[in-house]
Amino acid sequence: MTQPAPASSPERPAVRLRGITKSFGDNLVVEPLDLEIGRNEFFSILGPSGCGKTTLMRMITGFEAPTAGSIELDGAVVDRVPTRQRDLNMLFQSYALFPHLTVYENVAFELRVRRTPKAELDRRVREALELVRLGDFAKRKPAELSGGQRQRVALARAVVGRPAVVLLDEPLGALDQKLRKEMQFELKRLQREVGITFIYVTHDQEEALTMSDRIAVMNRGRVLQVASPTEIYDAPASRFVASFIGSCNLFDAAVVDGSARQVVVPGLGPVPAVAPERTSAGPVVLAVRPERVSLSATEIPGGIEGLVTERVFLGDEWIYRVRTAIDGPVLSARVPSGDLTTALAGVPDGGPVWISWPDAAGLVLPADAEGEGA
Ligand SMILES: Nc1ncnc2c1ncn2[C@@H]1O[C@H](COP(=O)(O)OP(=O)(O)O)[C@@H](O)[C@H]1O
Ligand SMILES: [Mg+2]
Repeated sequence: MTQPAPASSPERPAVRLRGITKSFGDNLVVEPLDLEIGRNEFFSILGPSGCGKTTLMRMITGFEAPTAGSIELDGAVVDRVPTRQRDLNMLFQSYALFPHLTVYENVAFELRVRRTPKAELDRRVREALELVRLGDFAKRKPAELSGGQRQRVALARAVVGRPAVVLLDEPLGALDQKLRKEMQFELKRLQREVGITFIYVTHDQEEALTMSDRIAVMNRGRVLQVASPTEIYDAPASRFVASFIGSCNLFDAAVVDGSARQVVVPGLGPVPAVAPERTSAGPVVLAVRPERVSLSATEIPGGIEGLVTERVFLGDEWIYRVRTAIDGPVLSARVPSGDLTTALAGVPDGGPVWISWPDAAGLVLPADAEGEGA
């Protein structure tokens, strides 16, 4: 925070973790991890509560020493560099503003400590307040602001010194749903405008999907997949990732003949899917997103017959639950309200429908969930 940024080169990642791991006593909380986070990247760490996200963040900030491994910021090893000398800043859910200081002075605080010249300080504070759309609130005290506005002051304070990296640990957790959604767009816009690397921790998949350039999905101290939001959603690498991000129909299935790459679900027979090349015969998990499933009130070639067990109206769409065989798996299908045909609407509860999905929508995932904690 207090050091001028070293001359940086575009090839160097903003953050590089090499074999970083953390144990508390016998409890291995972050498994050995290699990770590179790019310059100006909006990078999210997504996973359920207790999976090790905050511990990973605290190691990057220097609040927590890794049990093993090394951390580089902009190409320089910072293992022995204290937090205040790392070119980064943090924003947490429980941030503290100085109640007796104005918004302006709260944002200016760090620059004053650094003895920033007055004119520059004023320019940067005003710029930061404009960024979070609080230009007109400079003279207010924190008590005269809403929760969302206070959080924006904290955000302005985190970026005003233009650190290379800002780490945000569930910063929207205390806000209500509507405000959270607004702030998601604000955060993304702000990150683009300031060009700072954001490392964003959340257990909320929608938040991660909305804002991130890339997401690291974590579970039980292990990073399971690092990829763009679309890749994570369309090509999850494992059962845990498929079910944690979005909703997903998951079937225990088998590849019977590796060369035919055909996937069979017990009780259903062969189903549409594309097994990856070089898939050998054996158990797999088949994942199908509910929005890729089509329902028909009349028999269709290759369709799987099922019985409607339940349907829920959500305004813009219907969720149909369909039992695919006696004691067989129940599958969810999302039908946009505009696509609900009279014939489908007319199928009574317990009535038959025919299910289909494109081959490419049948995602074949490894069956072994070892270490995934799914
Ligand atoms: N200082 C600590 N001492 C002992 N155990 C800890 C400490 N900090 C975190 N843990 C444990 O590490 C695990 C991961 O915690 P944390 O990183 O806070 O997860 P998350 O942020 O994903 O919710 C939890 O089981 C937690 O109890
Ligand atoms: Mg946490």
